[in-house]
Amino acid sequence: MPVTAAPVQQEHTALGAGFDELRRQDPEIADVILGELHREATGLQLIAAENFTSPAVLAALGSPLANKYAEGYPGARHHGGCELVDVAERIAVDRARALFGAEHANVQPHSGSAAVLAAYAALLRPGDTVLAMGLPYGGHLTHGSPANFSGRWFDFVGYGVDHESGLIDYDQVRLLARTHRPRAIVVGSIAYPRHPDYAHFRAIADEVGAYLVADAAHPIGLIAGGAAPSPVPYADVVCATTHKVLRGPRGGMLLCGAELAERIDRAVFPFTQGGAQMHSVAAKAVAFAEAAAPAFAAYAHRVVVNARALAEALAAEGFVVTTGGTDTHLITADPAPLGVEGRTARGLLSAAGLVVDCCALPYGDERGIRLGTAAVTTQGMGEAEMARIAALFSAALRGEGPKTAARVRDLAGDFPPYPVRK
Ligand SMILES: Cc1ncc(COP(=O)(O)O)c(C=O)c1O
Repeated sequence: MPVTAAPVQQEHTALGAGFDELRRQDPEIADVILGELHREATGLQLIAAENFTSPAVLAALGSPLANKYAEGYPGARHHGGCELVDVAERIAVDRARALFGAEHANVQPHSGSAAVLAAYAALLRPGDTVLAMGLPYGGHLTHGSPANFSGRWFDFVGYGVDHESGLIDYDQVRLLARTHRPRAIVVGSIAYPRHPDYAHFRAIADEVGAYLVADAAHPIGLIAGGAAPSPVPYADVVCATTHKVLRGPRGGMLLCGAELAERIDRAVFPFTQGGAQMHSVAAKAVAFAEAAAPAFAAYAHRVVVNARALAEALAAEGFVVTTGGTDTHLITADPAPLGVEGRTARGLLSAAGLVVDCCALPYGDERGIRLGTAAVTTQGMGEAEMARIAALFSAALRGEGPKTAARVRDLAGDFPPYPVRK
């Protein structure tokens, strides 16, 4: 794919101090980075799992901490010279514990999937039965896909959502739990736009003697900002990503009570991972501090207000919005009434600079679209812009591609994700 590089902006807040050096040494890769910056800034990034990290988070990611090997945990490393990265990890752990009210935090998982793998490793043995949302309803790959370690090593049973309402059917979850007596129940999804009832899941898990694992990869940023209920008081282990609404670096995290702390830590290192990525751990610490500030709580609430406004506006344009709306940053919708199915819609939208995902729908085999408001809210957009975005969606699907692309560029241009330093 040809790369369209933006005009070079040496004072760009998204580009580290070493960027000029990179351009001199490796213009090919520098152009990819500039091209991506241009792509992110000139389209509308509506992938529910994406966001724009702050220049401070990017600075930590691009720092010399990337050089350091640090197997183990602060104070107990397998390498010398870890005194300073130990400080970074302790700060990250303390901030995560304070932010989420958890007794223990492990900030080393390289990704959300690595966090889930470690949670299973801490609690389960190969062959154990696990009850999780089925993949056709919004379960993640790590919730039992046959193509993933989870489906290969454990015996997953899938619960669904009600075909009409799109909501979790708790009676079905309880019935499946009673029938299959799972060792763990997983609550969490890649596409569920409503708050799960964590207390209800806890009660079901207790009834059958199962662990409760909350895979809060999606809502964790809303939880940090007080805009979604927290699974921490209910789940034995909470798995999360740090790069979605939470707006940190790409990575994972685990939260649990003191009694599971040692098992969780050993499940991350040495069981499933080697050396921690200390630049990422430091960047997580930066993001946790940002998320603890009042401005982040306001942001998290605005993300939800925007998602509700966008869901309503999409419904007015003819989309069938799953569950009739959203409680979160995430919307799933069926574009069929506009004459296209999800995959075609994603292509048409993408051609106009409206970047979304496809997703399963609660009924039938056709695909829907999945989108979220984390990134556009970081850019400063509000409800008025959500109405404009919904209108752009239907224009793109009506075949007004080029005209829509120009309007998308205009809208995005008014809300730069990374202001250029004057
Ligand atoms: C529910 C859920 N679990 C796990 C993950 C995996 O995260 P990662 O892509 O960082 O491995 C995701 C990612 O979107 C997710 O939505």
